[in-house]
Amino acid sequence: MKVVVVYMSQTGNTKKVAEAVFQEIQAKKDIKELKDVDSLKGYDFAFIGFPIHYGGPAKPAKNFLEKQVQGKKIALFVTHATREDSKALQKWLAKCKKAATGADLAGFFNCQGKLDTERLERARGFAKEVIRKIRP
Ligand SMILES: Cc1cc2nc3c(=O)[nH]c(=O)nc-3n(C[C@H](O)[C@H](O)[C@H](O)COP(=O)(O)O)c2cc1C
Repeated sequence: MKVVVVYMSQTGNTKKVAEAVFQEIQAKKDIKELKDVDSLKGYDFAFIGFPIHYGGPAKPAKNFLEKQVQGKKIALFVTHATREDSKALQKWLAKCKKAATGADLAGFFNCQGKLDTERLERARGFAKEVIRKIRP
């Protein structure tokens, strides 16, 4: 099984989550920036991470999800500035999932971009759970 972590990160928050996720993967693995990825060809599974911009997935991530993940096994991770219990957030996260319509979504994680140990631990837990789920 070959797994890729694809992420987009302007200020480094999502990158830190991506690196924590990557560390938890016990399989053949790559980590790549979204701008360097044209397709998920050659990978059995992809973790895809990006920030919320203007109440939805950041544009490059939205475009990628809409065009490249149909029929693919993926998990998403998202960072945002707003609190995890904010009401508006649920709508924004729903937009992220909607952009990935047609994918086989094995997991979905979000956290505030201002990272602390607890959030990174939760990200690691998310990665472990997804890996357990997808392991043949
Ligand atoms: C252009 C722009 C728009 C943003 N819009 C939102 C938003 O609507 N809601 C929110 O909670 N955070 C918003 N943020 C904050 C980012 O989602 C947050 O800081 C995130 O962790 C940044 O990730 P990065 O460091 O990987 O780029 C926005 C940030 C930028 C730069």
